[in-house]
Amino acid sequence: MSELFTPLKINDVVFKNRIGMSPMCQYSSDDGVASNWHMVHLGSKAVGGVGFIMTECTAVSHTGRISQGCAGLWSQKQAEALKPIVAFQKSFDAVTGIQISHSGRKGSAATALEGGSHLDADDATAWQTVSPTNTAFDPDGTRLWRAPKALSAEDIKHIQAQFVQSAVLAKDVGYDLLEVHCAHGYLLHSFLTPLVNTRDDHYGGDLKGRARFLLETVSKVREVWPANRALSVRISVHDFVDGGLIVEDSVQVGLWLKELGVDFIDCSGGGAVPAARGAIGNRTAEQPDMAGEIRKSTGLAVMAVGGITDPHHAERLISTAKADIVLLGREMMRNPHWAFDAAKALGADTRPVLAEQYGFFVGAS
Ligand SMILES: Cc1cc2nc3c(=O)[nH]c(=O)nc-3n(C[C@H](O)[C@H](O)[C@H](O)COP(=O)(O)O)c2cc1C
Repeated sequence: MSELFTPLKINDVVFKNRIGMSPMCQYSSDDGVASNWHMVHLGSKAVGGVGFIMTECTAVSHTGRISQGCAGLWSQKQAEALKPIVAFQKSFDAVTGIQISHSGRKGSAATALEGGSHLDADDATAWQTVSPTNTAFDPDGTRLWRAPKALSAEDIKHIQAQFVQSAVLAKDVGYDLLEVHCAHGYLLHSFLTPLVNTRDDHYGGDLKGRARFLLETVSKVREVWPANRALSVRISVHDFVDGGLIVEDSVQVGLWLKELGVDFIDCSGGGAVPAARGAIGNRTAEQPDMAGEIRKSTGLAVMAVGGITDPHHAERLISTAKADIVLLGREMMRNPHWAFDAAKALGADTRPVLAEQYGFFVGAS
């Protein structure tokens, strides 16, 4: 029997299988408002039988976006655009999640499709980025990365309130799972990692000080996020650069998050500095296994991600207790019906996997 196709219940949220789509920026929003593209991108995975679908990194404010094309959730208009997409996914019994985020010093950038580095200073759409210090992401690089502003304690409180506002809107939209993005060098991760955070105030110093921004934010979000839904935090479990975060640090952060009532750690990696190119999986051989270490040492449910394409690999991660959910990013874009193919490969019942309209005709074959 395939364990990848067994259900999982966290609070009142029931995942029909352990297959999830990882959050992926689509650069298809207009002033943060989702478009038809999102209905197709997210909806097609629901039709394809994915148990859990995470909406891309969604900014908590205009200047918390990475690029002009990024999704946002700071207005009612943005919330309204997401509602039919969530309803559609739920009509196929998919658990819906959204990742809320602030880009920090990696914001004000061109979309990845346009090169991804900072917009020129004279570009009218550019904005002042923020970070623990005023050091740019890649000051010596060939691509443009301008200096961010170092956040004051008051600025931090303001951004935390924006996270709370986004969480309230996400609750109203009807998401089952909320994820706080603390990975890939974006604002919360840049505070957590010693590679970026060299502050000597309350929000810097040792791991506890560097984690303060994250922990305060999560604690405030927890107050408004319903206890019967699920709360996740994506962290870069390892910075993949000497002197950066290692798994032991992430275990400690996981334990603090557990005390705050977090349900899942979504275990990604890298992204803090240019040398740490882990975010889209150049350390994929190790990264999913690291999720197992976080799971074992914290007792929290975890999501594993990075280079998972083979159904047997996914099955192994679940059956050997390394992960509760496996997330697929690029493979899911290549094949929105990956769950169906996985069921076939693993000898699971394929009929309930696809939407009825498809499953009736192809599910039994
Ligand atoms: C186009 C693209 C956009 C991404 N956007 C996000 C994002 O919004 N939030 C995030 O945490 N990770 C993002 N990632 C990273 C993925 O969620 C995932 O962790 C990574 O691609 C590794 O998984 P994979 O090997 O299955 O693709 C993105 C990756 C890609 C390829």
